[in-house]
Amino acid sequence: MKNEELKNRDLDVLWHPCTQMKDHESLPLTPIKKGYGIYLEDFEGNKYIDAISSWWVNLFGHSNPYINEKIKEQLDTLEHVILAGFTQEPIIRLSERLVKLTPDGLDKCFYADNGSSAVEVALKMSFHAHKNDGKLKDTFVSLRNSYHGETIGALSVGDVELYKDTYAPLLINTIQTAVPKDMTIESAIESAKEFEKLCQEKADKLSAIILEPLIQGAGYMHMYHPHFLKLVRDICTKYDVHLIADEVMVGFGRTGYMFACESASITPDFLVLSKGITGGYLPLSVVLTTNNIYSKFYCDYNEHKAFLHSHSYTGNTLACSAANATLDIFEKDKKIEKNKEKIEYIAKKLQKFKILKNVKEIRQTGMISVVELKGYNPEERIGLKVYQYALKKGVLLRPLGHVVYFMPPYIITNEEIDKMMDTAYEAILDLI
Ligand SMILES: Cc1ncc(COP(=O)(O)O)c(C=O)c1O
Repeated sequence: MKNEELKNRDLDVLWHPCTQMKDHESLPLTPIKKGYGIYLEDFEGNKYIDAISSWWVNLFGHSNPYINEKIKEQLDTLEHVILAGFTQEPIIRLSERLVKLTPDGLDKCFYADNGSSAVEVALKMSFHAHKNDGKLKDTFVSLRNSYHGETIGALSVGDVELYKDTYAPLLINTIQTAVPKDMTIESAIESAKEFEKLCQEKADKLSAIILEPLIQGAGYMHMYHPHFLKLVRDICTKYDVHLIADEVMVGFGRTGYMFACESASITPDFLVLSKGITGGYLPLSVVLTTNNIYSKFYCDYNEHKAFLHSHSYTGNTLACSAANATLDIFEKDKKIEKNKEKIEYIAKKLQKFKILKNVKEIRQTGMISVVELKGYNPEERIGLKVYQYALKKGVLLRPLGHVVYFMPPYIITNEEIDKMMDTAYEAILDLI
């Protein structure tokens, strides 16, 4: 089987996500035959470093032998079971572990099967918790430039034009407040003031603020100081507004902490997790919340306060076994500790981009590092040029517009970091 044959068959029957399909008249698709470690390999034996962890999901490499083994073990016992009225051992074990690992006070796990649907769960649960308390708080706040997924509710709290504008007439009303403009403590304080002012004016209507702790992913990998999280937590408590921490992208070690909320020692009212939870293997998401929120729904059936949200594949057993295997690797390999050296190595490599005259800024939080370019307009699609250049050299980068970023699986070696970053450097140089 050749790449060419598969490309043609694909384009006959598939419509790809996040893609203008006409681009594929000139831009070839890359059919992947297999994955191992940080590499993807096509049908002609070309290898690509997966520098974006396949849409930010993969943590310990493709075809990880340990995760494979654990999924195979589970496969022969139970693949899936309805989670209403029934339960299974892998999901109980996973929930016990998540409750222990996440910030203190998050005691209950509610499952779904992707990041967007978990965001919907958190929004609905927040609204419903207030309602069960007799309060109609029907407005959500989010940060400017935020991204929380693409279902209608998640898109409504997002603020990236590219995804949101077309659907504006369909969306629910939300309010956007300032995100700190840079990584300084001063801008954290300034932005928190805007949120506090909003709460002073409208707290009786505000159900929750949702934010991406430390890094706004699809919002061009914008980064801010942890102090902002602390300030927002305090304001939320003062005004009875829930805090929803969307760690779909930043959770499971990406920021250098297991969970980004740890950077500010805060406990949100809702913590949303997905992507890395299964090591990048299977769709799964979870919303953790407090016993206090849980208790607002706990009463006799006829009081009509139950949270009746459900998805067919909620808490899929195979996905839970992949998630348990992923947590095993974190534990036995002390991954958070070990990543520190890699974070430092990447920081050193990143410095070299500063001398390029088309580089506006470099920035890094933990295992996510960024080179932001300047002097181009969107029509030039320089991100696409960087993508094409790097792919030819065996590296899968997927810049967000003029922002080139690196988010590799944690098993990447220093030599592979060299190859990934040197290739990006050449690609950026080639634009000049
Ligand atoms: C912060 C954040 N929230 C939510 C989502 C949506 O997750 P999913 O793509 O699994 O629906 C994403 C996806 O990139 C994300 O980065």
